[in-house]
Amino acid sequence: MCGIVGYIGDKPVVDILIDGLHQLEYRGYDSAGVAVQCGEKINVYKAEGKLENLSSVLMQHKDEYSASTLGIGHIRWATHGAPTVVNAHPHTCNCGNLVIVHNGIIENFKELRVKLEKLGAKFKTQTDTEVVAHLIAYKYADTQNLTKAVQLAVKEIEGAYALCVMHNNDKNTLVCTKRNAPLLVGIGNNEFYVASDVPAIIKYTKKAVYLNDNQIVTLSREKMVLIDENGNELQPKIETLPWEPVALSKMGYKHFMLKEIHEQPDVIRNILVGKLHTTEEPIVLNEVKLTRETLKNLTRIQIIACGTSLHAAMIGKYIIENFCGIAVDVEASSEYIYRKTVTDANTLVIGVSQSGETADTLTAIKQAKAKGSHVLIITNRPDSAMAREADSLVPVSAGIEVSVAATKSYIAQLVSFYLLAMYMAEIKGSLESSVLKSLKTDLTQIPQKIEQMLSHKEKIQQCAKIYANTKDFIYIARGINYPTALEGALKLKEISYINATGYPAGELKHGPIAMLDESMPVLSILMKGSVYEKLLSNSEEAKARNARMIALTNSKDEKLKDLFDFIIEVPDIQELLSPIIAMVPLQLLAYYIAEYLGKDVDQPRNLAKSVTVE
Ligand code: F6R
Repeated sequence: MCGIVGYIGDKPVVDILIDGLHQLEYRGYDSAGVAVQCGEKINVYKAEGKLENLSSVLMQHKDEYSASTLGIGHIRWATHGAPTVVNAHPHTCNCGNLVIVHNGIIENFKELRVKLEKLGAKFKTQTDTEVVAHLIAYKYADTQNLTKAVQLAVKEIEGAYALCVMHNNDKNTLVCTKRNAPLLVGIGNNEFYVASDVPAIIKYTKKAVYLNDNQIVTLSREKMVLIDENGNELQPKIETLPWEPVALSKMGYKHFMLKEIHEQPDVIRNILVGKLHTTEEPIVLNEVKLTRETLKNLTRIQIIACGTSLHAAMIGKYIIENFCGIAVDVEASSEYIYRKTVTDANTLVIGVSQSGETADTLTAIKQAKAKGSHVLIITNRPDSAMAREADSLVPVSAGIEVSVAATKSYIAQLVSFYLLAMYMAEIKGSLESSVLKSLKTDLTQIPQKIEQMLSHKEKIQQCAKIYANTKDFIYIARGINYPTALEGALKLKEISYINATGYPAGELKHGPIAMLDESMPVLSILMKGSVYEKLLSNSEEAKARNARMIALTNSKDEKLKDLFDFIIEVPDIQELLSPIIAMVPLQLLAYYIAEYLGKDVDQPRNLAKSVTVE
């Protein structure tokens, strides 16, 4: 969470900072600020709310900073202290000469605050970050060297951080460091860019250095000096960023979410290219390093993820167990890391993450790796911290996802799981070739089926209008589509704030059925296959309690018309692949309800796209 940018060079800094922050808005958007060197002092400008509020503040002070070429900026997702102007970054020391921006959480900030107050630090905010500003300032007073001050200060800090620091006495210096939070330095001509993520700098340079944990970089206009935590100089590893500058354009769609839903057919086609050639040929996953031997010795698989990625993981479990006959456990990363987890060299640990930097998942895979497990990462960011930890990688190639609610990255994760499960099944010989062939054939037809659904959205818009004014919403399903119910509910609640819950339909009568009455919409994900009849019975039970019944189905069964008030038909598909087809109308339903209610679809309240705090 939170985005950091920094620049030192000869260009007008404020434009670069604001442009960079705009590209990082997905990391948080409750307040923002910049600090820029303006002649003999550092000026700080901040605003509460969206970035445009900061731009308005800056407009009023143009004359003060127009010649400035050194500065840092921050976009915040509040952890400690409300999202107010005072708590917005950058933060300063008592005299305002030292200024910092920070991403992460300082776990021992309370102890540090008490200690620093005794030394005379005057705290102005409720943030954890402010202690770092005071701490570095005290170290600077002792050393008169900004790099040394940062080096000494971070030794006393516990927690996660990416930091960018400037000091009024060093008008040609930016010092940056990180631990368990991403930070990279872009290299230009006698200029350097600092950012939490590539989109903030890719427009300016493709050459960059990703900082490793505990490294400290000192940037001047002329050079970059990289050291480790003990002050030993290191050779920076310059990488070419595998990105094209992307115009973050909605391409005529009202929201990024709607655009990203419509990109899904092409996302699937892109993923399949080079991996699924013909139905006769084996699946190709070049970056998966699982040998026949490793697979043979596997006693189980653990999949760890959060949020939407966790729902993809649950479907992954279903597919892998079905295709490969290996036991799979799925767990939320935040639960996995705080118990005595049994993991060993015969366990394959799969981490799933759109961003590749979710703190809980990153910590979990590091723990699994330390216990000797082979770690395989399914991510949309092959340049992320998780990908760097991976023994094997499955890049999901969904392209940049701007909307905070994950859509195309979820579908891409599902397709990646199908490919991985087929790949493993082919090595193990655990699936009949006729089954494999039909899966491959049907997988390649899915993009077309999604296009078909996308061109008939009116029915879903109609459904959205009818059910938008509800306080609660229940989604039910069984088997492979139970996670679809969870994901459908998550999509609706995160963007419309309607209290939506997904249940395995068989569980309804063990408690949740008490909630049902004539005001409660119940959406049944009724895909043909092994649990169709069972789910039909569960839907009857809900109907008998007067719930407002909606079906999402690929069945043409006439009797559904008596049971359901509203039917959303989807193209036919075999049961094992049905989660991909079933999810698209649920994404659209959530979208249209939120849009109908006038919500901020792409940037829902309280959320951020990359959750880099545990
Ligand atoms: C919901 C959503 C989140 C993320 C979760 C994990 O639409 O996007 O639930 O799925 O925060 O993020 P990643 O996949 O980046 O690890």
